[in-house]
Amino acid sequence: MRCLSGIQPTGRPHWGNYFGAIRQYIDLQDDNEGFYFIADLHALTTVRQADALRENTINAALDLLALGLDPKKATLFVQSQVPEVSELCWILMTGTPMGLLERCHAYKDKKAKGLAADAGLFNYPVLMAADILAYDSQLVPVGQDQIQHIEVTRDLAQAFNHHFGETFVIPKAQTLVHGAKVPGTDGEKMSKSYDNTLPLFGEVKRIRKQIMRITTDSRPMEDAKEPEGDHLFQLFQLFAEQEQIDEMAAMYRRGGFGYGEVKKAVAEASEAYFADARQRRAELESNLDYVHEVLRDGARRAREAAALVLSRAKKNCGLQESV
Ligand code: TYM
Repeated sequence: MRCLSGIQPTGRPHWGNYFGAIRQYIDLQDDNEGFYFIADLHALTTVRQADALRENTINAALDLLALGLDPKKATLFVQSQVPEVSELCWILMTGTPMGLLERCHAYKDKKAKGLAADAGLFNYPVLMAADILAYDSQLVPVGQDQIQHIEVTRDLAQAFNHHFGETFVIPKAQTLVHGAKVPGTDGEKMSKSYDNTLPLFGEVKRIRKQIMRITTDSRPMEDAKEPEGDHLFQLFQLFAEQEQIDEMAAMYRRGGFGYGEVKKAVAEASEAYFADARQRRAELESNLDYVHEVLRDGARRAREAAALVLSRAKKNCGLQESV
């Protein structure tokens, strides 16, 4: 199956990015044809410092490779290095109802807060549709928060196919049961824009401090607690084996424990879980030429795939094909 997904280089990737999306890229890469990219064009709607964007983009590539994305199995590239996608974005925009975009949450939320939104943010879902459709993607592994965007993609593709004839493959989203919506340190969805993230990489001591600051309820220690609705328990669940999860759940139900104990368990489990990736990342950092080479090769392969779809779309809607 053709799988595709992207991650924005807007800052350091966090547990939500990994357990919602990146882990799926890696699980899917053995038996599928994967296209995974760093969405720098999307990030440009929020990162307005050139150096930061450049640095974040390379860091995102390092992160993905360190976490196990294998360039021999999947294509890893930077979004802006495939200009075909931006061209397809324009074509799709001409058939996108304004009302559809007005209902999309990124734009709606910003407007609701009284913040000035730009056309880039408004059209964000159309660029995402172009990303997905440009590669004839069948499956899009993501977290819950991207589902609406994939619905928009399906709508736009269906409308185009209906009007101009069979052109685009209609993609499906895939989310995981545990991981579709990883909570942050405050119990809300973990998100770079809420300042509640736990990073995948970075100084262990600092991350441990952040873990110790995860909010908890103030019920007495003796009280029995239901584990399911508790975000600290949900975070523990991401890293632990079933047996440890059952033990922890039993401890919650018995009561008489301190949240500090659970936090310590989360810290230890997460450190062990990411230890190999952390080491691989350090190795890659001293081999940036290799990383650039991977991205160059990825962009070449991605462009080849996107050019086919773009030329099909241009032909079907009556545009002159590329010379
Ligand atoms: P971004 O960079 O915000 O997030 C990357 C991926 O991480 C997932 N994610 C989460 N999953 C579970 N729990 C969380 N707390 C959590 N936070 C983030 C996201 O769902 C996403 O899968 N618009 C996209 C990037 C993009 C894209 C695409 C994705 C651009 N074009 C085409 C798929 C297909 C974004 O902002 O992801």
